[in-house]
Amino acid sequence: MSEKFRNKFLSPEERAADILLRMTLHEKVMQLVQRPIGIDSNPNNASTWTTFNPLFGSILNFSGSVEERNAYQKAAVEDTRLGIPILWAFDVIHGYKTSFPVPLAQAATFDLETAFSVNAASNREARKSCGTDIAFAPMCEVCRDPRWGRIVESYGEDPYTVSRFTEAAVRGIQDGNPGMLACLKHFAGYSAATGGRDYSAVEIAEIAMQECYLPPFEAGVKAGAKCVMSGFNALNGDPVIKYRNLLEDILRGQWGFNGMVISDCNAAKQLDDQGYSSDKMKQAVASLQAGNDMDMVDMVYFALEDAVDRGDVSVADINRAVKRILEVKFSVGLFESPYVDVQELPDYPEMDALALDAARKSAVLLKNENGLLPLKPAEYRKILLTGPAADDASCLIGSWMGAAKWDAEYAALLKDTAEEYFPAGTVVYRKSVGFTGEDDDPDLSATALAAAEECDMIIAALGENGNMSGEYRSRAFIGLPGRQLQFLRELKKLGKPVLVLLTAGRPLVLSEVAENCDAMLMLWQAGKMASRAAWDIVTGKVSPSGRLPVSFPRCEGQIPCHYNQRPLARRRFKEYIDLPDGALYPFGFGLSYADIVYGNLQVSENPDGDFIAEIELHNNSDIDTDEVVLWYISDPEAELTQPVKRLIGFSREYLPAHADKTIRLKIIPERDLSYPDAVGKRHLEAGKFVLDCSGKADVSFQFSRPEKK
Ligand code: NOJ
Repeated sequence: MSEKFRNKFLSPEERAADILLRMTLHEKVMQLVQRPIGIDSNPNNASTWTTFNPLFGSILNFSGSVEERNAYQKAAVEDTRLGIPILWAFDVIHGYKTSFPVPLAQAATFDLETAFSVNAASNREARKSCGTDIAFAPMCEVCRDPRWGRIVESYGEDPYTVSRFTEAAVRGIQDGNPGMLACLKHFAGYSAATGGRDYSAVEIAEIAMQECYLPPFEAGVKAGAKCVMSGFNALNGDPVIKYRNLLEDILRGQWGFNGMVISDCNAAKQLDDQGYSSDKMKQAVASLQAGNDMDMVDMVYFALEDAVDRGDVSVADINRAVKRILEVKFSVGLFESPYVDVQELPDYPEMDALALDAARKSAVLLKNENGLLPLKPAEYRKILLTGPAADDASCLIGSWMGAAKWDAEYAALLKDTAEEYFPAGTVVYRKSVGFTGEDDDPDLSATALAAAEECDMIIAALGENGNMSGEYRSRAFIGLPGRQLQFLRELKKLGKPVLVLLTAGRPLVLSEVAENCDAMLMLWQAGKMASRAAWDIVTGKVSPSGRLPVSFPRCEGQIPCHYNQRPLARRRFKEYIDLPDGALYPFGFGLSYADIVYGNLQVSENPDGDFIAEIELHNNSDIDTDEVVLWYISDPEAELTQPVKRLIGFSREYLPAHADKTIRLKIIPERDLSYPDAVGKRHLEAGKFVLDCSGKADVSFQFSRPEKK
């Protein structure tokens, strides 16, 4: 073995340095190129079949068989001069074939184990099915604008929650599947899309970057993510694709990231649309020099060879990017194991059970007037089920469905599963309005209303279909689309109890919906087992335990309405003259069938200067449940004024009927009581703090250690 780079006992850095010396400029540039083979489930990606070239650094969107993937790989390994294997990338966002709850719904579980397992399981399935190496996930952007369709891919509005879920997802992808890479996206600021309009330029104040948008990426880097995808948005006037300060200084310089950066689909080419340059060479050079090592789809990097000849870019710039990609390939063992061996890769155990558990934990009970839920079989023997979500799989699965299809085979429909959950009664299904209102047939609605008259109660399955959230799916009005609300009003007029089951990939404006029903259960897009999870909750087999990871506004004019804003300068003044203050359903909201009493909240200081908070929970009911405990801190007087409150911890606790449980939280002042300034320097001030537990109890305490200068 004369070639050093083949020696697996050398470090990835040494091996990459060695192979780099042997590569031609053309081979190097080809390593920087990622091209599609196949079309993924996102219609906006415009990816088509490419002519395969074994010198490509990476392929995306491939969803053929492992055997095919391995055959392509063989060409790279055996038929090229240096035998550099290819990295295979896919958007495994919330499942491959088995569909799990969308990321926003996963966040509603406030259960990091669920996020770990879902990511481990779905990526195992992708790897075994088509040989994926890189998952284009997690999207670790904080999202505060529900009009933006991609909020569905996020973990919500709170930087702490998003950070913890990002870590769990990275570990699930990488530790759950040795050899695989997580890719944090989209670095940075894409989610702050102005007006919620996808692909819009973004302005974010430096302080907001430090408090909100950067921390989840830093958490993902510290959790070991080996890839980062840069965004296609402009940030404060500079397209991110050419924003060196972000990609080199912050990501690598400050956080020590040593993996590879991939640009987003066609982002370099879009520098033309963004008003920078239509010159491919200029686009390529700007993108490479800013720190994008690999170029996704657009082929702009092919111009780099000429750019070197012309002296527009140095070979050193190219070497730097190639070396980073090769180091990643060496570090995950791709040279030693370029082929996916399906026999050696165990199936992830109990996929359906995991999907069911995640779906149950993610559902959020928003309203339950007069204890309508859980349904009492004796009172409701004949139930009408209607509404577009009852008869549709797309609304249960959502966007980025991987290799699944919007088809009942991939997510059992509400109407098909209902009956087995009500053995003592009858569930009558009647078609009525559609999602969009476009092809609504008034006769169908009339028939459904007539059927409702004959029933004891009504279940209206309403919301968005799978095509109303996701990439390029911004909505200006985020109430129920089409004629759904009008139809609900008609149902309500009948005077029977009405339960609304909601499917959506975003927070909806529900003010009028809430007025026209007795109970409302948010199912999000909970995947393959969504309907079964819904019926388990409706019938009381499971107590609802999800909490909102994002606030639901009263109306669109109230956006943004995230919980962790700074107070008004006139604190007691109202926000609007024509709207009650605060979100309709704020972050953390969610009802339970059980009655959990919070008591005796205390904070004590340890000799080492940390604090321990304790709260006693009592399940004052006959119902077993999970309870999500949310810990918030307020810093009422600070040099740099602070949000009214911010989350510093959460956990999901099992509390059987009548059980007591003491929950503890460790508060580390440097981590939990400090705040960043506009350049990211953290400040820790002595003074009074207030700790709030789930909005049910609070206590103030004094922190007296002076700031170390
Ligand atoms: C564009 C999207 O913005 C990104 O999230 C995705 O990973 C890539 N296309 C690849 O499909």
